[in-house]
Amino acid sequence: MDDAIIINGGKKLIGSVRISGSKNATVALIPATVLAKGVVTIYDVPGISDVEALITLLNELNIKVVHQDNHLIIDTSDIKNCTLEHDAVSKLRASYYFMGALLGRFKYVKIKMPGGCDLGPRPINLHLKGFEALGAKVDYDDGYYIVKADELIGDNIYLDFASVGATINIMMAAVFAKGRTVIENAAKEPEIIDVSSMLNKMGAKIRGAGTNEITIDGVEELGGCIHEIIPDRIESGTYIIMAAACGEEMTITNVIPQHLESLLLKLEEMGVKAKIGTDYVKVTKSDELKGVDIKTLPYPGFATDLQQPLSALLTQAFGVSRIKDTIYPERVKHLNELAKMGADVERGEDSFSIIGPTPLVGTTVTATDLRCGASLVIAALMAEGETVIKDAYHIYRGYENIKEKLKSLGADVK
Ligand code: EPU
Repeated sequence: MDDAIIINGGKKLIGSVRISGSKNATVALIPATVLAKGVVTIYDVPGISDVEALITLLNELNIKVVHQDNHLIIDTSDIKNCTLEHDAVSKLRASYYFMGALLGRFKYVKIKMPGGCDLGPRPINLHLKGFEALGAKVDYDDGYYIVKADELIGDNIYLDFASVGATINIMMAAVFAKGRTVIENAAKEPEIIDVSSMLNKMGAKIRGAGTNEITIDGVEELGGCIHEIIPDRIESGTYIIMAAACGEEMTITNVIPQHLESLLLKLEEMGVKAKIGTDYVKVTKSDELKGVDIKTLPYPGFATDLQQPLSALLTQAFGVSRIKDTIYPERVKHLNELAKMGADVERGEDSFSIIGPTPLVGTTVTATDLRCGASLVIAALMAEGETVIKDAYHIYRGYENIKEKLKSLGADVK
């Protein structure tokens, strides 16, 4: 079974694991390079399948890419704008960042409807509203978006919801717009700061990333730069939760703990023993964990991406834990899979409860999306016996070398 991860649970994990560069920053930084005239070098690029898909799309645009170890050298000198319709577009949501980037550079983009994890409805109306505010016309025809403009002119854009994707996409479309663009109620995720910082190194004039008001003053041209990606806060959180679930003593390195405050506070409330260093978190075995309530919110609130991994740990906590995902209310497919392993889950109208602790037993389950996969890996590591996680390709979209990392911690994985 090539596309399955098989875990023999019950092993205590010991040792240290280094966190890779942020997936959600990387998947925006790669499309952002099309805005540069020159060579962009990006360090600490995670070895995940989403990166391969984006490189394919750069190649479609006649961009030369050297991918060596964990860095990318991207040379846009011979770029040619073309319709993005390769299968890679449908593999990940983030292919939508080519909309903002190509619109910014060429004032024209034609792209197939982007794909990605099925988390319920994932509209892009706010992205399109932002492009229109800058003067673009948006058409949707037979599965393709066509966005074009004679010229882009800065404007004040209020986002009805602080969307990560819309904030980054509008930021990219606006770098060459005439005058000033202000994004109000912008998302504040650390990945947005990372993208703005790379664009500024390329010559853009963006201020306020990381706050709810971002100002972009249009420039004429962007050049190359060297950029190192921030550590992945979701991968960090996943391994920290894993450490709380089955670590004897585990150190998670290359972490920015400030990016994980809401998770770390929740784990403390549960009774998890963690030492927080400047760039690491060390977790030692805890005695008895207590259930907690979680409500996912935009950053700095509790991340929706960590709701699923944390659900696995909550099956081992005493009492009732209530979880409400306000970002993606339908991001609950992992619960059926956890229930197959022995979790006691009750669905409410707009939330769900996990009643714990209940023993978990290995069985065959399916990774229905990326973070569902992460949740199942954690559950499988805690479970008695063998768990077969099918459709593991979802997991490889966001977790670099996960099998190798787990093996180095003492897990029985194949
Ligand atoms: N929304 C709209 N209209 C829009 C855009 C978003 O209504 O035009 C709504 C969405 O339906 C959702 C909410 O706004 O309810 C938040 O969506 P957002 O745009 O912030 O999410 P995203 O950009 O599509 C990114 C990450 C997700 C992560 C979310 C929330 C990337 C490529 N994806 O998605 O990551 O869950 O932000 O933090 O950065 C993952 O890594 O597993 C993942 C799904």
